[in-house]
Amino acid sequence: MTTNITPDELAFQRPFQENIRAFYAQKYPDKMPLAFVRTFGCQQNVADSEHIKGMLAEIGFGFTDTPDEADVILFNTCAVREHASDRVFGNVGALKHIKKRRPDTLIAVCGCMVQQEHVAKKFRESYPFVGLVFGTHVIHRFPELLWNALNRRKQLSVTPESDGVIAEGLPVHRDGTFKAWLPIMYGCNNFCTYCIVPYVRGRERSRQPEEILAEARELVAAGYKEITLLGQNVNSYGKGESHGVNFAELLRRINAIEGDFTIRFMTSHPKDATHELFDTIATCEKVSHHFHLPFQSGNNRILKEMNRRYTREQYLDLVNYARSVIPDISFTSDVIVGFPGETREEFEDTLTLVKSVGFTSLFTFIYSPRKGTPAAEMPDPISSETKTAWLQELTALQEDISAERLSVLVGTTQRALLENACDGYIEARLADNSVVRVSGDEKLLGRYAAVRIIDARSWIMTGEIVSVEE
Ligand code: SAH
Ligand code: SF4
Ligand code: F3S
Repeated sequence: MTTNITPDELAFQRPFQENIRAFYAQKYPDKMPLAFVRTFGCQQNVADSEHIKGMLAEIGFGFTDTPDEADVILFNTCAVREHASDRVFGNVGALKHIKKRRPDTLIAVCGCMVQQEHVAKKFRESYPFVGLVFGTHVIHRFPELLWNALNRRKQLSVTPESDGVIAEGLPVHRDGTFKAWLPIMYGCNNFCTYCIVPYVRGRERSRQPEEILAEARELVAAGYKEITLLGQNVNSYGKGESHGVNFAELLRRINAIEGDFTIRFMTSHPKDATHELFDTIATCEKVSHHFHLPFQSGNNRILKEMNRRYTREQYLDLVNYARSVIPDISFTSDVIVGFPGETREEFEDTLTLVKSVGFTSLFTFIYSPRKGTPAAEMPDPISSETKTAWLQELTALQEDISAERLSVLVGTTQRALLENACDGYIEARLADNSVVRVSGDEKLLGRYAAVRIIDARSWIMTGEIVSVEE
């Protein structure tokens, strides 16, 4: 059952926006208040931050990259691994001196980390200079929370437990001008035993297809070239809804929107990736032939312990089927090394799976225990030195595979989106999600170009622009 935030509830936020606007107008008669927003974690968090920034912009805030000059500093946090959480504590701790120097600055922390009660408690007890803490289920109430926090001396902490809601109609301030994130669903029901996401993001819930299509049409009309559909498990889009539109059908409908744009999506769960989906991708010309399909482990016992609900054989069958209908499809994946109790032999099954699939690239992680998840209670005898060595072995293997895959491209000309300016180069992304560096004018960013690949080394390619599309 999906709970939608009603228009009345959103209208309830208006007076708070007005109050905050008036408050800063009085404080700064001739300048805008400034906000600094930093986002950790996945694209879902990036999309949430774009909504929070939308609300800030609607109130009248400008944005700055310098926390020192901001009136509101907001950290949107991630809880997926210990390292991510540690970084947030370190970064927030470093803001203490700003609060001392400029006591009017409001420091706020939101997102997945503080949706965990023990973390919210730590902020309450040990970070009193943080004025506002709010969880993932109350983002639409941001104006009200901000106003209340500005008017009290003590920390305001609002992190209610919830199965989750959907708030349509929030303003959005997008970071990109040609690449956009489009959430199609929220939450997760899979409860992989290592993962905190279902606890901090609530149950799986899908947006209505008309809402998604309307947003996609707006993006295309605004000139966006690449739309990435977001969800923890996009393959289960529409489950439990009466509209009967599944993910494949949603792709067909977005594909039917007129315009020159590419559709990407993430993340896919192998247990819900259907033949229908691959058949659809094969026939939808705007859908990218890149598939991010996390396998996590190549060993069946570990997959069972992880509660992933597919086997190594089923995963390999899926990849084979996909390649039979989309010969140039490229796969990337996520892998966890050192799940509790994983043996050397079991880890080797991960190595052989990586070899047999030939991924374009891999995101590799050492298992990190998350409080409250079943895996955190499992015996874990393998030392962290061993796990680090395994990770290095896996990364080295993938580097060789990537190098070999990319070397095949040398001498060919590929269509690529000129995406990023970085270290004097432009990074261009090919359909298979690999990146080639070219030199060129930053004014070309956001355009498609034909790029000739000149050289390829492990995961980085260099090339030259042959021609740029209008
Ligand atoms: N919903 C997505 C992934 C979300 S988290 C999916 O199921 O594919 C992104 C990645 O972080 C996961 O794919 C997994 O590889 C990794 N991850 C999640 N929890 C982890 C943990 N406790 N320790 C290490 N890596 C983890
Ligand atoms: Fe986490 Fe598994 Fe859900 Fe992905 S599918 S968010 S790994 S519980
Ligand atoms: Fe992190 Fe939350 Fe995403 S835990 S990975 S930001 S859903």
